[in-house]
Amino acid sequence: MFNIAILGFGTVGSGVYEVIKENNTLLKKKTGEGIAVKKILDIREFPGSEWESLVVHDIKEIIEDNDIDVVVETMGGTSPAFEFVRDALLSGKHVTTSNKALVAAHGTELLKIAREKNVNFFFEASVGGGIPIIRTITESYAGEHFKEITGILNGTTNYILTKMDTEGEDFEKALSTAQELGYAERNPEADVEGYDTCIKIAILASLATGKEVNFEEIHTEGITKIDTTDFEYAKHMKLSIKLFGDSKFEDGKVFAFVAPVMVERDHPLYMVNDVFNGIMVEGNMLGKSMLYGSGAGKLPTASAVVADIVAITKNKDKNVATFGWGDEKQNVVDMNETSHKYFVRFKGRDAKFIDKCKETFKNAKEVYLDGKDEFALVTDLMKERDFLAALNNLGDVIKYIRTKIA
Ligand code: HSE
Repeated sequence: MFNIAILGFGTVGSGVYEVIKENNTLLKKKTGEGIAVKKILDIREFPGSEWESLVVHDIKEIIEDNDIDVVVETMGGTSPAFEFVRDALLSGKHVTTSNKALVAAHGTELLKIAREKNVNFFFEASVGGGIPIIRTITESYAGEHFKEITGILNGTTNYILTKMDTEGEDFEKALSTAQELGYAERNPEADVEGYDTCIKIAILASLATGKEVNFEEIHTEGITKIDTTDFEYAKHMKLSIKLFGDSKFEDGKVFAFVAPVMVERDHPLYMVNDVFNGIMVEGNMLGKSMLYGSGAGKLPTASAVVADIVAITKNKDKNVATFGWGDEKQNVVDMNETSHKYFVRFKGRDAKFIDKCKETFKNAKEVYLDGKDEFALVTDLMKERDFLAALNNLGDVIKYIRTKIA
């Protein structure tokens, strides 16, 4: 029997228990020996539950238990998750985690310890929930030089933007619906400010480059400033607005950002709606491919954790070195040096001012909505630094949104 310990019996941890119980026969067939939950670390007691007898409160009871092969970390946060995972790896146990904050902050060090201890540190569930994006990048596309990995990586914000798009709801109303349905947290900051997407795209960029991409270097904007008028313009132009975690790899450089973007219908991520996630991968041989599915939720995320446990049962005596993520640091190019086509809204309809804007942004397309005392332009491709300088000179700007228009 392959024994595991679950650290943190919240949504994902209890989901792992449920997947192992529900798919027990199948897992026995796949692993030969079967998987058993031997201990659960939690501050609660769970009196009367069927797992009550498995609960422990001291991590030592797990670290020092030689019968435990795999530690499943589903606590969230970076401390004490980091210390617990580090100690588990140092004691020669394999680890799988769903904790993206842990992977983004300490992935380099934990992968190094795993290599040194000849065990595995897997984190399939940390990005894209039930979408197998990490194994796809590291194994299925092992022969690729990546050109781009761009995703809708946050279910909550995708749900909010979809509601704003299809039902004309404003941000606050769509957010409160997302909260009522249990998608958004009571404190939704990490989702709506883009931080969750930032951490996820940093992990994917680290795997794509084989180097450590620091999430703090990634320019990040959320969706809180997107309003119903933006969606009216988008509809008028047959576009939608999505929160992208965007990363491109060119000549050893990494261009990455998180921001709402206006997307045209031909874009592979245009049709990723509601709480779903979608990730577009472009490789130099592969061309483009897209993965789509449940990016969050108890059972999809737990399923990815269990898949890691199965992978560990097949590699219990060796470190799977397919993760290219080494110690070397990879800088992210300054956002000012990136180039985009911008949608920009200006106040008023003054003919002289419109001419001045058109003179500044040569070849820009004009967009007008009936009954609005404002106008918009969609610029040609230009460098962010030049765009911002031009806006500064013009004034009377309401806002801008980067676009994904061919
Ligand atoms: N809050 C995240 C989301 C959960 O909405 O996608 C999964 O990381």
